[in-house]
Amino acid sequence: MRILLGVGGGIAAYKSAELARALMEAGHTVQVIMTAAAQEFVRPLTFAALTNQKVITGMFSGPVDGDILSSAIEHIRVSQENDLLVVAPATADLLAKFAHGLADDFLSTVYLAFTGPVFLAPAMNNNMWSHPATQSNLEMLRLRGHHIIGPDSGPLACGTVGAGRMTEPEAIAAFVDARCDMRRDLDKETVLITAGPTQEPLDPVRYITNRSSGKMGYALAAAAAARGARVILVSGPVALPEPAGVELIPVRTANEMFRAVMDHLEPATIIVKSAAVADFHVADIPRQKLKKTAARFSIEFDPTVDILAEVGRRKGNRLLVGFAAETENLVEYARRKLETKNCDLVVGNLVGGQATGTGFEADDNEVVLVSRDGGITHLPFAPKRELADRIFDHILLLRPALHQAG
Ligand code: CTP
Repeated sequence: MRILLGVGGGIAAYKSAELARALMEAGHTVQVIMTAAAQEFVRPLTFAALTNQKVITGMFSGPVDGDILSSAIEHIRVSQENDLLVVAPATADLLAKFAHGLADDFLSTVYLAFTGPVFLAPAMNNNMWSHPATQSNLEMLRLRGHHIIGPDSGPLACGTVGAGRMTEPEAIAAFVDARCDMRRDLDKETVLITAGPTQEPLDPVRYITNRSSGKMGYALAAAAAARGARVILVSGPVALPEPAGVELIPVRTANEMFRAVMDHLEPATIIVKSAAVADFHVADIPRQKLKKTAARFSIEFDPTVDILAEVGRRKGNRLLVGFAAETENLVEYARRKLETKNCDLVVGNLVGGQATGTGFEADDNEVVLVSRDGGITHLPFAPKRELADRIFDHILLLRPALHQAG
């Protein structure tokens, strides 16, 4: 792999020399980009000697190939010619720039122009790390599908002890290396994903919905796109940024989601139905706002169309993955949904448990995969982005069995 290693300005910059060496030893080529602040901590010559390549030190520091005319578009060439971007240490400043799309130096400009997988290894003081600004920037970057490595806890350069130490270079290199091979294994697939809740109007100003945040579906979309798939994401209303490289189709109601799914079924080879679709809706929505009365009143609901079951009837040899959000009897209900909705795999998770911190709004989750052959795989507690990759690993394992059956 051709790896771009962005080095930010922090004490941990010296450890990135070890990281460059470890990545080279694993067989990768490494092109280093240093921010101006990084050069205050480590000399570019150190990286140049380790990588046998000229280090990029600024926007107008001259092109790597020596042609001064190509200097102005150097960041585009560099971003196109490399497979992965690893930023270590990723300072609070760099995380903020990446999150908000600021592009005032070479590294932040390359970040915007780069379309491949991004790995960030943060390092900073523990108060800077836990500051809400840093945490919300990080949340945006995570939802964009980037891999966040660390930080670790321990003694910090400022003399305090806490979270903020950059993960050890060997561990970063191993993490990156482990994800290199599977990078393009979905490049022949078109993955249709549904995510988020639906909203069902009660009158022109009110609706009912559920607690789905869409985080799992968006993590699946980001994972599939990073692994080379064409991704069509049909999403109910969520407060999440659009993952890079996906075709987003926003919908509101179960009916709209049904139509969007059917419209995009044809090219899909894998369908993942992670949306929490409302089971009921008001068929005849009043044209005027319902007025308050003193008496008890009731609303009549009709069932919505079961999108997953309908896709199950028309799926042909597409791989169909359903979700089961349950508060009890997880495996049994998941198995039942697999049968009744003709799925190849059902991802079961327990929801509504505030005490366990799992389910709808959480960043982390644990799930059970129930497959057609009766196999049950437990994926332990992990960030949803990690789970998304494990789920696609499992989906790809089902491919040969499906082809034999078909
Ligand atoms: N689903 C769907 N259309 C619906 C309801 C559910 O496509 N109208 C899909 C969901 O996207 C999910 C799966 O069916 O992949 C299971 O959803 P869930 O809400 O767990 O189950 P339900 O079928 O609604 O059954 P119940 O509410 O009884 O658990």
